[in-house]
Amino acid sequence: MENHLLVEAANAFGTPIYVYDLPFIAQRVETVQSFFEDFDFRLAYAMKANFNKDLLSLLNKLGTMVDVVSFGEYLQALSVGFSPERIIVNGNCKKESELERYVKDGVYSINLDSYEELLRLEKIASRQVRVSIRVNPDVDPKTHPHIATGLKENKFGVDFDTAHEMIKRINSNKNLELIGLHCHIGSQITEVEPYLEAVVSIKYFAKSVGLNFEVLNLGGGWGIDYGNGKAMSLQEYREKIFPILKELNSKIVLELGRWIVAPAAYLVSKVEYVKRTPFKTFVMLDTGMNHLIRPALYGAKHKILPLYETKGREKIKADVVGPICESADTFRKSYTMPRPREGELVVICDVGAYGYAMASDYNLMPKPKEIIWDGSKLFTSS
Ligand SMILES: Cc1ncc(COP(=O)(O)O)c(C=O)c1O
Repeated sequence: MENHLLVEAANAFGTPIYVYDLPFIAQRVETVQSFFEDFDFRLAYAMKANFNKDLLSLLNKLGTMVDVVSFGEYLQALSVGFSPERIIVNGNCKKESELERYVKDGVYSINLDSYEELLRLEKIASRQVRVSIRVNPDVDPKTHPHIATGLKENKFGVDFDTAHEMIKRINSNKNLELIGLHCHIGSQITEVEPYLEAVVSIKYFAKSVGLNFEVLNLGGGWGIDYGNGKAMSLQEYREKIFPILKELNSKIVLELGRWIVAPAAYLVSKVEYVKRTPFKTFVMLDTGMNHLIRPALYGAKHKILPLYETKGREKIKADVVGPICESADTFRKSYTMPRPREGELVVICDVGAYGYAMASDYNLMPKPKEIIWDGSKLFTSS
C-alpha cells in the first residue's frame, strides 16, 4: 500500500492500527487459483492466520473454501456466509458436542487427527459424514520448531500404519465416507523439498493401500519473504510437485493462510520516545508484543519502515521496542533506521498473518483497531 494511505489511516483513526489491503488479498487468491488451473483445485483459506470478518467476507465472495481449527472459527465462518459444505474442520482436540454439530450441519470434511477421534466420531455419526485422515509423514519442514507440525514427535496427525487401520474402520462404517488424506507439515516453509518428501510418501501410501483418494489436502505452509529474500518458489513447486500430483489424480486442496494474507497488512504505530542510554538507543513504539507476538514467540523479523521524511536524517542503530513490561517486547535489535522524532509514524510490514489473530490486551493495553482499505476508501472493520 502507498505510504500516504497509511498516514491518512493513522490521522483518521489514531495509532496503533492494523490496515488491511483487500485488493491485494483478492490478487493472491487469483494467483494461486490460476497456478493450479490444470488441476481440480480448491483453496481453503486457513482462517487461523486472520479471522477478520471483512477479510473473510471477501474470501466468501471470491468463492474460496475455509479451513477452521476450532468451534469459534467455525461459527465465525458461518457468520460471514460460508455454508458448511465449504468448511473443512481441522484441529487435534475436537469436543464431542462440536463433532455432533459438524455431523448435523454436513461440513465438507472432518479431518480426523487421531484414531481416538475416529472412535469418538463413530459413536456420533448418526448420518452420513465425510471424513479425511490427517497423516503425519515425519518430514522436517525446515522452519521454526514452534511451527513444524509434520514430524513424528509432533502432536498432529497419525503415522501411515495407524492411517491404514483407520481406513479399514472407516470403510466398515456405513455412515462414514472417506474422501481423502490431509497433511500439513508446518508454516513459513520456504523450500519445496519438504513438500516433495511429503507427497512422495503419500503417493507410496496410496499405492500400498490400493486407494485412489478423491481429495488430497496438502494443508498450508507456503512461506513469504519477510525481508531475507527467502520465500516459497512457485516455479520450483510447479517443477517438482506438479508431476506427482498429476499421477495421484485427486482433487487438490490447499489450506494456505500466511501466503494469502501476510503481506496484505500493515501495523502503523507512533514513536512515543527515542530513549538513549549509555549503551543503546531505543525507539519506543505505541504497539508491542501484545499486538504482534511473532518476534517474541518465533524470533520473527519484520521490516519496519519510516512514514516520516527521511531526507537529511542521521542513520541510527536502535532496538525497536514496545510498551509492554517484558524484555521480549522487542521488534528488532540494532535496527538501522533514519532517526525518528517523537510523534512520528512507522509501519511494521507483513503482519496480516498471525498478527491480530494472536493479539491480546496484555498489560491491559487494548488491541489495535483494524482498518480496511477496499481499493477506494479506508474504514473501520466491523
Ligand atoms: C491444519 C492447518 N492448515 C493450514 C494452516 C495454515 O498454515 P499457513 O498459514 O502457514 O499457510 C495451518 C497453520 O498452522 C494448519 O495448522
